[in-house]
Amino acid sequence: MFPLVEERSGPSGGRGVGFPWKSRAWAELETARARVLSMLGGLPEEELRRQHSPLMSPLIWDVAHVANYEEQWLLRALGAPAITDPAFDAIYDAFRHPRATRAQLPLLPPDSAFAYARRVREAVREHLRALPEDSAVPLLAGGFVFGMVAQHEQQHAETLAATLQLMTAPEYPVPGARPRPRPGAVPQAEVFIPGGPVRLGSDTPWAYDNERPAFQQHVAPFLMDEHPVTNGDYLVFVESGGYADPRWWHPKGWEVVQAEGLKHPGFWLPQGGHAWLRRRFGQVEPLPKDEPVQHVCWYEADAYARWAGKRLPTEAEWEKAARGGDGHPREYPWGDAPPTRAHANLGGDAWGPAPVGSFPQGVSQDGVWGLLGDVWEWTASDFRPYAGFSAFPYPEYSEVFFGEAYKVLRGGAWASAPVAVRNGFRNWDFPNRRQIFAGFRCARDVR
Ligand code: AVJ
Ligand code: FE
Repeated sequence: MFPLVEERSGPSGGRGVGFPWKSRAWAELETARARVLSMLGGLPEEELRRQHSPLMSPLIWDVAHVANYEEQWLLRALGAPAITDPAFDAIYDAFRHPRATRAQLPLLPPDSAFAYARRVREAVREHLRALPEDSAVPLLAGGFVFGMVAQHEQQHAETLAATLQLMTAPEYPVPGARPRPRPGAVPQAEVFIPGGPVRLGSDTPWAYDNERPAFQQHVAPFLMDEHPVTNGDYLVFVESGGYADPRWWHPKGWEVVQAEGLKHPGFWLPQGGHAWLRRRFGQVEPLPKDEPVQHVCWYEADAYARWAGKRLPTEAEWEKAARGGDGHPREYPWGDAPPTRAHANLGGDAWGPAPVGSFPQGVSQDGVWGLLGDVWEWTASDFRPYAGFSAFPYPEYSEVFFGEAYKVLRGGAWASAPVAVRNGFRNWDFPNRRQIFAGFRCARDVR
């Protein structure tokens, strides 16, 4: 039986991260580390060092990068003794070296990378012990910098999952994934979201700079798909020639379709006729029609929506649907209680999305299902700063990505950790990327 009422054993997100934050901070750091180690533990050294895709870093780069980030922010920035010389940071500086070139760097060998991560973590434990719960240092307010580092490691765990999905020869064996519920066929429907003010953004202590400051915006009434678009829904677009008809595509999307020869979402395996398989890590299985489509880029989402006579929701609409039409700004679609297994498919251990309709406890105030977990949802919006934005604690997390090059995704995927998702959380990527665990749902104007 799927553990529908089991509470998550680890800590999870919540709006109440204030005081005391230290025990939660430590637990979140250790939850992230246990996940990274369990994902990589079974891999031989050469697979950890290999460049599996030009889109991704060697797996072991991520491990040492996470450790180096933790050393910079939880040790050096807080006045604790350094473990390594700051000159060492350059190898693990994401801005200095594009992913495709990282295998050529003098990377720490796997044993040393894991040992470095362990050493930093031990020093962090000692340093954390001595910190006050109520420091006036901005980095420490509500434990912000610890939340930032725990979210960072979990974001890289999700990045590792994307690399493992791209891995071939050998393919990554799906670890005993926890059983997923099969609720049966659920038809798509649309939910009316009343217009009115929405509170966008977050003011919780562990929110990122790009979510701040929270503010009110008016949203016109609209219709939102009740569920994410499923593989079965998307298959109709594929089989009716959607990838061959430029009418449905953004001009740049049509260029991508032709340049890359796109004919269907990533990791789908056409078998001829109406038979389709898909590869999920090392598992080749029939395409599950009832799961949200994933591994589609923004252009594919945009084209489907146009073909369906709909459009992608804006960020503001997505957040209005998630927070609730009644104007009470909930932290999660179901309310303020932190996510459990009953609310959403999060945390990475399912190794894939659950069928739509799996989480009745996760439904929003207005009746929208599956907003958090399963797949990231592409929105119509470019990644831009909110009015009053200021970079904190460094411009390379968010600020340097603002502009029209990136589209915003909302809601988190099965591979996202509870600590790194909330109604106000903003993710972003290039509109042609589909190695991420991204799908979408459609919206429509009220006529
Ligand atoms: C927020 C997911 C776009 O992976 O590029 C990791 C997160 N930032 N290390 C990314 C991040 C620095 C970021 N995303
Ligand atoms: Fe990073």
